[in-house]
Amino acid sequence: MAARDAQSTPPNTHGDFDLQRYLTERSRWVDRGLHRFLPPQSTRPSTIHRAMRYSVFAGGKRIRPILCLAAAEACGGDPEEALPLACAIECIHTYSLVHDDLPAMDNDDFRRGRPTCHKVFGEGIAVLAGDALLTLAFEIAAQCRGWPRYPPERIIRELAEAAGSRQLIAGQVADLESEGKQIPLWQLRYIHERKTSALLCCAVRLGGMSANCTARQLEALTRFGYHVGLAFQVIDDILDVTQTSEKLGKTAGKDVKARKATYPALVGLERSRQIAQTLTRRAFAALEPFGRKAAALHALAEFLLRRDH
Ligand code: IPE
Ligand code: IPE
Ligand code: MG
Ligand code: MG
Ligand code: MG
Repeated sequence: MAARDAQSTPPNTHGDFDLQRYLTERSRWVDRGLHRFLPPQSTRPSTIHRAMRYSVFAGGKRIRPILCLAAAEACGGDPEEALPLACAIECIHTYSLVHDDLPAMDNDDFRRGRPTCHKVFGEGIAVLAGDALLTLAFEIAAQCRGWPRYPPERIIRELAEAAGSRQLIAGQVADLESEGKQIPLWQLRYIHERKTSALLCCAVRLGGMSANCTARQLEALTRFGYHVGLAFQVIDDILDVTQTSEKLGKTAGKDVKARKATYPALVGLERSRQIAQTLTRRAFAALEPFGRKAAALHALAEFLLRRDH
């Protein structure tokens, strides 16, 4: 396995899949859903609703919600059924970015190609906009009626665990506490598993649950989501070093400046790329039981490995 892993980019076995079209169409669905679920900006107090919408509709890639929809399809479900959960995930993700950018955390001025929420609305409103997006996610998820194997309380627990102090928040805490330190690789893996992979994996699992997936399907989706989530953060670390701020829509080179623990800092760029490839191969392998139904998930994982922003 190790020798094969070290080879060049994994082959695309779903080469005929029109990913560009899929991404455009699905992100439109997600945007439509989000417009429906977020209070109109005229809703009082309008400052907070303007701030929430400012960050949600700033041009994010919508990777997590699209993975959620694709996971539903892989299990033979109707992606429309997964849409509210996909939107809930994007609200949690956007909240995490708004808070991640605060001066008390990564102190970033640009996000999704525009000034960060706190730059436009002030820190107080940015904290509250994040809080409101996190809360809204649960309001949206609570509207789902559940599925035979997955009652609504199970869905809510999934979201709460992924976003909570043992997963996403744990990763963010460890990320902050590792600044300026030379940490071992296993500890960096701990950070990535939690700050990034947990929510991405949750997105994929919820998609499967919305299709009333079997326990075996859920296990395969979990393996897929875990590895894609880890690869996603390794690539994010690489892009911070190799891309321009214009391309990323956020300030490049910040990780070195903030002395963040990252893969390029720990093992160098070349080894980081190899690790991202290995992780993506493991994600591909997890899709085998789904056959052609996983064409979208497969194409998405490959796209995430090759992405330049
Ligand atoms: C950025 O996520 C934060 C990380 C976990 C690396 P994305 O790269 O998905 O950000 P958007 O949603 O496209 O802005
Ligand atoms: C962000 O990680 C993870 C979360 C927001 C949970 P980063 O700090 O690396 O993300 P960017 O680079 O600011 O997008
Ligand atoms: Mg951060
Ligand atoms: Mg950051
Ligand atoms: Mg980053």
